[in-house]
Amino acid sequence: MIDDDPITRQLLSDILCTVDGFQTDVASNGIIGVQKAKENNYEIIFTDLTMPELNGLGVLKEVQSINPHLPVVVVTGLSTIDVAINVMKEGANDFITKPFKINTITSTVERILGEKKLLDRMSAKEHYQGAVERLNSELFQKLQKINLLQAINTELNSIYDNGKIYQTIVEMASKLLLVREASFGIVEDGYFKVKKVIGLKEKNVPIKATLFETMIKSRRYYLANPGEINPHTELPLEYPFIAFPFLIKEEVFGLLTLANKIDGSSFTDDDISLALTLVNNTALRIENNVLYEIVYNNLVNSLKALVISIEARDPYTRDHSERVTAYALQIAEVLNLSDEDKDAIKFGGSLHDIGKIGIRDGILLKPGKLTEAELADIRLHPIIGDNILKPLMFFPKEREIVRYHHEHYDGGGYPDGLAGEQIPIIARVLSVADAYDAMTSTRPYRKALSHEQAKAEIIRCVHVQFDEAVVNAFLLTPVGTGVDSKEKLLTPLGQKENLGT
Ligand SMILES: [Fe+2]
Repeated sequence: MIDDDPITRQLLSDILCTVDGFQTDVASNGIIGVQKAKENNYEIIFTDLTMPELNGLGVLKEVQSINPHLPVVVVTGLSTIDVAINVMKEGANDFITKPFKINTITSTVERILGEKKLLDRMSAKEHYQGAVERLNSELFQKLQKINLLQAINTELNSIYDNGKIYQTIVEMASKLLLVREASFGIVEDGYFKVKKVIGLKEKNVPIKATLFETMIKSRRYYLANPGEINPHTELPLEYPFIAFPFLIKEEVFGLLTLANKIDGSSFTDDDISLALTLVNNTALRIENNVLYEIVYNNLVNSLKALVISIEARDPYTRDHSERVTAYALQIAEVLNLSDEDKDAIKFGGSLHDIGKIGIRDGILLKPGKLTEAELADIRLHPIIGDNILKPLMFFPKEREIVRYHHEHYDGGGYPDGLAGEQIPIIARVLSVADAYDAMTSTRPYRKALSHEQAKAEIIRCVHVQFDEAVVNAFLLTPVGTGVDSKEKLLTPLGQKENLGT
């Protein structure tokens, strides 16, 4: 066992020595390891991948030049799994991921020694070729599964919504282990609350006195025996069933179940280790998402409080941001925008005028018409707002709303004079919602317009101020059709103003 980490090399050596009764030897770096391999007649070499001086790949090449038939097993952390794949392609016999389990080591050694014996026995050329082909196909299958895992990880990393992650886990795990039945559920209030199922009824399951209860207590995966009660069906199992816990902060918060393999076989060690890799990686991802959500929500709530305090200074704009957000979400729904865009509207909408914190009360609360200089000051609020959010790295989409909600479709808006599609769609949506609410609210210098008047004004400003597609969508929303409209005062049109300022 070649490893620069004394604990790992001693642990592996001890496992093989005490559990399996092998004679073992250790080396603290690649150079010493290769030297020992020259001097001794080892049956298997285990080597760490990342080591100073001579790394695992170097060790493999050196060992191959000494004895091409000496099996080399690479021991690696998950983060270097793609490197491990390359090492396999270079001719390593197998790889093991850290932290390893006793039976993984044992079964790897048994397999390698078994194959070696097989090769020794099959001296006839065709037999030998058959064995090589079989080994190659096993290797190929293993590589395929690793590649699949890699693809899954890449895919999971691009999803930020836990609901979608649950769905992906079930779909991927069922493909990876080739099962007919799979489910993912959350452990809550004594129930296994299903979030995604394949081949099963979408039904919550009481946990008490089921095998779920056992595994939640042990916090380990559970391979059920035939005849045990299937928690999903409450009937004795007639096929293999396995469940894996998802832990956040050492607590089981969710379970993945897999059952009924398509080929009718049982779950192998390989299946279990693949599923565990998937589960462990995803659990980390979900945990990060949950933590992110907590931090995000806390921050958004603080910022919302700030906006409420700005709006509270001015009785005419009270609750403006919340209404604008509600209208904008209705438009987003009609436009069928992505969940990500809707989330940005939900939070960005509440914050769109946050920059007004930087505008003097004398201007913000002025009852009369604003002078050019005062207007110029007010028009700074998108930039001020953007600057407030900029240091909070995780608001890129929300910032687009804050910065661009006063841009006009023809390029005549502020602060950047963007036009058409240059203006992010979420900002174009907010702009219509903002204008509608501004017009249908009473302002110090004019009373509120009626729904019909505001609608007419918005239609009049299509192509100039607004995107036609967004306006059309708005006209289909509950608020746009007047179904949802807030209380309004019917008064003659006030002076022409910049809508939504
Ligand atoms: Fe604004």
